[in-house]
Amino acid sequence: MQYDIRDPSLAEKGSLRIQWAAQSMPVLGLIEERFSAELPLKGIRLAACLHVTTETAQLARTLKAGGAQVAICASNPLSTQDDVAASLVINDEIPVFAIKGEDNDTYYSHIQSVLDLKPDITMDDGADLVSVLHSERSDVLAGIKGGTEETTTGVIRLRSMAADGVLQFPIIAVNDADTKHLFDNRYGTGQSTVDGIIRATNRLIAGSTFVVVGYGWCGRGVAMRAQGMGARVMVTEIDPVRALEAVMDGYEVLPMTEAALRGDFFCTVTGNIHVIREEHFLKMKDGAIVSNSGHFNVELDLKSLERIATSRRIIRDFVEEFTLPGGNRIYVLGEGRLINLAAAEGHPSSVMDMSFANQALAAEYIMKEADTLKKEVYGVPESIDKDIAHLKLEAIGLEIDVLTEEQVKYLSSWKMGT
Ligand code: ADE
Repeated sequence: MQYDIRDPSLAEKGSLRIQWAAQSMPVLGLIEERFSAELPLKGIRLAACLHVTTETAQLARTLKAGGAQVAICASNPLSTQDDVAASLVINDEIPVFAIKGEDNDTYYSHIQSVLDLKPDITMDDGADLVSVLHSERSDVLAGIKGGTEETTTGVIRLRSMAADGVLQFPIIAVNDADTKHLFDNRYGTGQSTVDGIIRATNRLIAGSTFVVVGYGWCGRGVAMRAQGMGARVMVTEIDPVRALEAVMDGYEVLPMTEAALRGDFFCTVTGNIHVIREEHFLKMKDGAIVSNSGHFNVELDLKSLERIATSRRIIRDFVEEFTLPGGNRIYVLGEGRLINLAAAEGHPSSVMDMSFANQALAAEYIMKEADTLKKEVYGVPESIDKDIAHLKLEAIGLEIDVLTEEQVKYLSSWKMGT
């Protein structure tokens, strides 16, 4: 078996941490049990480009239990947990190609390695796998039955491939399931981003001014949690509706040119390029801490910062100091990559439980429906989304009401008014 990981001797530590995560992933656990009995993925080859974490390990094991042959590479050069990669290779015999801190060339060569599996299904987080597949691996492309996509940024890229008529197989947009983005993007990103910023800096959030750049589901989560820790939260937006929501959620909304003057912490979560640029860095206070929790490391214009800085140094793990001509220092966390995975451990397991339940069931759905799906981006079927929500409620011991017959009839009738 081929693989490329940091150190196989980390396997035992990884195995224990995977067991710890599994305790908070009851829905995926139930799916794993059913998959072991029914083998819905029997004989299928599945290439996954995901953050290699304890939660991803649980997903990989579930897919393998369902009969799939799985290979995994990282979906970000800084997000790999090396002990988890080791455990997957040594204890589960799942090939992993991922090393925390790998350079860009290694990152892309690892994508090539999982594509050498000649997969039937792709599983992506950010659409790098699908992108490489379409641009460089026509030898593998024809055999693909379908793929899944985990994140907002990836879904946007894939929709634009579909709109340009270049997408060559159907994609299930896992991100768009309610049981994914309403929980993972909001509560997962919210908690793990603040966690990453704190682990990297050990600075006090209480009493600080915290600028959240972008008020999508991730931005809402980060704003909520930063406020919960006592920060004065400010939001910047380009969308008028989202800006209004932020105002009515109680945050100050202002343009980046003004926020730049006031923030102690900045965190970008827009999915867009260069939302903090030279003109903003030049306005920031001495000691401003700048981070990103959007998928790609493009949100901060670090090239400009490097150009205008008179000096730079790593002052502690995941914290780089840039000194500007006037003497002000700007601190960039985790090279501008997803701070929640670079300096912390990503979203907690109990929220990834639902995200990855969607992934596993979407893979099963692709195999069942491969003949009927077109080369388009589809949502997760509502029945799967609702099943996952029911299973999660059951797992945490909560019951909800059911509609009475009278209510069912009322909801389907247009005749009854006042
Ligand atoms: N994305 C964000 N958090 C994650 C995690 N814990 N595992 C895998 N992917 C993630």
